[in-house]
Amino acid sequence: MDHFHRYISELFNWNEQMKNYLESENVGVESELWGKLDRFTNLIENVSKPLSNSELLDLQSEAETIQEDMEDYFNRKQEIGSIWVKETVLPPGGHSVPPLPYAYNALEPYISEEIMRLHHDQHHKAYVDGLNKAEINLKKARESNDFSLIKHWSRELAFNGSGHNLHSIFWSNMIPGGGGRPKGVVLGAIESYFGSFEAFKKQFSEAAKQVEGSGWALLVWSPRSRHLEVLQTEKHMDFSQWDTIPLLVLDVWEHAYYLQYKNKRAAYVDNWWNLVNWSDVESRFEKVRPLKWLAF
Ligand SMILES: [Fe+2]
Repeated sequence: MDHFHRYISELFNWNEQMKNYLESENVGVESELWGKLDRFTNLIENVSKPLSNSELLDLQSEAETIQEDMEDYFNRKQEIGSIWVKETVLPPGGHSVPPLPYAYNALEPYISEEIMRLHHDQHHKAYVDGLNKAEINLKKARESNDFSLIKHWSRELAFNGSGHNLHSIFWSNMIPGGGGRPKGVVLGAIESYFGSFEAFKKQFSEAAKQVEGSGWALLVWSPRSRHLEVLQTEKHMDFSQWDTIPLLVLDVWEHAYYLQYKNKRAAYVDNWWNLVNWSDVESRFEKVRPLKWLAF
């Protein structure tokens, strides 16, 4: 059996295992998980010829979505105490470099194999190591109640965490034989905000070309503005960590406290805890919690 057929057969076995699992957990036929798994069975059964890279990635991403839906479903069941399923939560220092979703030389001639090996295996690895180290040292700081290095480790957390998150997105954002234009909702959202795909592409390219020093150009979704946006970032982050969503924030600009507290920022921070609206934080958390990428 060649590599491709072995892969399809693995997907088929995975699909069967998921169905057996639903059955063993007495998940009723009315659950949409059954429908999703049945549609996936049809997808695999109708594969008659080797698929292109992009079709294979679509298939894999479909499987990952179903897997995540199942995890969500069983996590919710866990919360109401009916069954126990372990959720993948990365512990402090638990990050790893995700595998490259194609061969090192697959992006040639546009990006050489040598760059890809160095970029993925060494640069990305260094960010993962730095992120793990920052998380472990912040854990130690909490345990020892010694926050004298909080500025250093917070900076490391932002720099390396954003480096890890953005590179993880970057690898999957590329594919051999890619290019062209997006379709469907992405094209619609681009055209409605930027005016045209060409206008967006020009702005994104200029943002990338004009980053001062090292950095990134990013196309982002703004949940509050409810439209796409193009941003530049220097280094990876400027002290934030990309791919995260704020739940609780505290303004420590002088305009937020100076008239009342003068230079006693610490007193303002200590008093601020009397005002926190935890119901609001909980409601934000409940809304964003279903959003999960693969854990690395
Ligand atoms: Fe990089």
